[in-house]
Amino acid sequence: MIPVNEPLLNGNEKQYLLECIETGWISSEGPFIKQFEEQFATTVGRKYGVAVSNGTAALDAAVEALHIGPGDEVIMPAFTIISCINQIVRAGATPVLVDSDPLTWNMDVSQIEAKITPRTKAIMMVHIYGLPVDVDAVLEIAKRYDLKIIEDAAQMHGQTYKGKPCGSFGDLATFSFYPNKHITTGEGGMILTDDDQLADTCQSLRNLCFQPNKRFVHERLGWNLRMTNLQAALGLAQLERLNDFVQRKRTMGKRYGELLAGLPGVQLPVAKTDYAENIYWIFGLLLDEDLEMDAEGAMKLLAEKGIGTRPFFCPMHMQPVLQRMGLFSGESYPVAERLYRKGFYIPSGLGLTEVQLKTVAEAVWEVLG
Ligand SMILES: Cc1ncc(COP(=O)(O)O)c(C=O)c1O
Repeated sequence: MIPVNEPLLNGNEKQYLLECIETGWISSEGPFIKQFEEQFATTVGRKYGVAVSNGTAALDAAVEALHIGPGDEVIMPAFTIISCINQIVRAGATPVLVDSDPLTWNMDVSQIEAKITPRTKAIMMVHIYGLPVDVDAVLEIAKRYDLKIIEDAAQMHGQTYKGKPCGSFGDLATFSFYPNKHITTGEGGMILTDDDQLADTCQSLRNLCFQPNKRFVHERLGWNLRMTNLQAALGLAQLERLNDFVQRKRTMGKRYGELLAGLPGVQLPVAKTDYAENIYWIFGLLLDEDLEMDAEGAMKLLAEKGIGTRPFFCPMHMQPVLQRMGLFSGESYPVAERLYRKGFYIPSGLGLTEVQLKTVAEAVWEVLG
């Protein structure tokens, strides 16, 4: 089986992990945490990094840090992972969805303004699958209506928008370091900001809102979202190789693009827009509406040929758990729905060899050609 993803851990990972074990620093108190936070924030051009236990936790803390709660609305893409909506809903706020752009698969920024009401508090922009959202449009709207921006850059390590790093735009930006990301800490996440107060709040929320002077007296409810020194050790070693990893993914994307060019009835990822070059977090395939096969059928046939795949996200308005709460009743987002029904991705890991790329492409041609 060619897996959909595999991390590359052949840099300084072992050495730094050994250092944790030899020094006994394995908890979140260890020295690698601060180093990782500082170096990651510097890479993205931000003042503060707050390392947390995963990308979902980073989003939870970001939503809570902005005091998003009952009566507030947050505009976000329908097509994304459930992590984006969890804390908005739990906090009693209202998620307001926009559909996707059919080419880049990112939120269609032209739909945002019509969704703004006096209750809108923030826009959550989520960069999807390798190309950024059209950030300028979101920044302009947020400025005009005085809205906060949470930027979910979980999949966007090393990507830029008009030459500026993704993760440098939101009041708060979040990342994930799950092993299928460009750099990994096993499990892990990071919140970035330039705002002193927000950085303080996120640090406090991550650590149960312990108070410096009265440790076990709490003025606010937080979580334990701490990252361990072991995870930060991995992260530091991975960060040293970020440019190489981005380059590898671009080479993989370009090669798949060549091998799959001309595949009938299949839309490949856009290689380049006027603001960014794809970093191919994953290499997605989107089947045409008039193709009888849907993603599920194609993935089943590819699995029989030993090719690992994953479906695209299921849109928020189609999530049973959210529907049962009475959310999004009667709403439709046709692009997001098609992405779910007809989209999936093929092996996209950092370790893919030329032979594996060709094997995958041949299997895709046999199934879909
Ligand atoms: C866009 C996006 N946001 C958030 C997350 C959540 O990250 P994690 O799996 O680290 O909780 C992911 C995970 O893939 C993601 O793709």
